[in-house]
Amino acid sequence: MEIIKAKSAGFCFGVKRAVDLTNELLDSGTKIAILGPLIHNPQCIEQLSNKGALTVNSVSEVPKGYELVIRSHGIPQNIYEDIKNNKIVSHDATCPFVKKIQEIAKDAGDKGEILLIAGDENHPEVQGIIGHTKGEVFVFSDIDQLKSYFTVENANKNFTIVAQTTFEIKKWQECTKFLKKVCTNANIFGTICSATWTRQEEAEEIAQKCDLMVVIGGRNSSNTQKLYTVAVRHTRTVMVETAAEIDSQMLCEVYTVGITAGASTPESIIEEVLSVCAK
Ligand code: F3S
Repeated sequence: MEIIKAKSAGFCFGVKRAVDLTNELLDSGTKIAILGPLIHNPQCIEQLSNKGALTVNSVSEVPKGYELVIRSHGIPQNIYEDIKNNKIVSHDATCPFVKKIQEIAKDAGDKGEILLIAGDENHPEVQGIIGHTKGEVFVFSDIDQLKSYFTVENANKNFTIVAQTTFEIKKWQECTKFLKKVCTNANIFGTICSATWTRQEEAEEIAQKCDLMVVIGGRNSSNTQKLYTVAVRHTRTVMVETAAEIDSQMLCEVYTVGITAGASTPESIIEEVLSVCAK
C-alpha cells in the first residue's frame, strides 16, 4: 500500500510553543494550572497531567502556589484582569496569530465598528476575540448565516470582519466575495493562520490522490474537523484520535492511503498510525 503523509501534519507553531512552554515550566518544578485544556488532544493532556499539570475552568480554581498558563486559543480581556486582581503569576501562550485578531477586535470596538467573526461562536478562540471588543459582534459559521444578518438598514454601517484562525478556506472565500458585493464599508482581515491554510490545501491535494484519507486528531479539535470536511469531498475519509481506531476492515482494498493530522496531534500518534497502515 502506498502511504502519502502530509508534510504539514501535526503540531503547528502555536501549539508547539504552548506545549513546550508548559513542559519547560513543569520540568523546572513550577506548579502549573492551565486555563482550559491546553490543546484539543486528550492524549497530550493526559501526559501533561501525569507530570502534575492541573486543568482549571476559571481563575478562582487556581490553587495557592500555582502559576497559570494561558493556552494558544487566548482569553477575553476581563480574564486578564481577573488574573491580575488575584495576583496570579501567568504565562501567556496565546498564539501570536490569535493575539493579532484580538488587537483588530479591540480597534473595531474603539472605532465604533461592528465586528463580524467567521467561526464557531462556542469555540474558546472566538469567545476570547469577542472579549476584546466593546462594540456589537455577530458570529457566523457560513454564508447563509452571514446573508441572514445583512438587512437593507445595516448594509451601510461600518464593519470589521475577521475569521477564526482555523476557519475553512473555501467558506471564507465565499463569505468575503459576498461581503465585498453587499457592503461598501467593510474592513476585511484575512486572519485564517498560515498553518491552517497550508494544512487544508495539502489535505485537499492528497485526498484527490488516494482511496482512503485518515485524519488524525482530537474529535473536539476545530482544525481537525475542518481537515475532515475538506478531505471527505474527494475521497472516503475517517477521523481517528489514535492508531487503535484503525482496523483491517478500514484498510480493505485500499491501495493508496493519505494521512494528515490536526495542529494539536503529537508526532508520536502520527507515527503509530503510519506504522499500522504500513503493516
Ligand atoms: Fe496559532 Fe494557527 Fe496553530 S493560530 S495555534 S498557528 S493553528
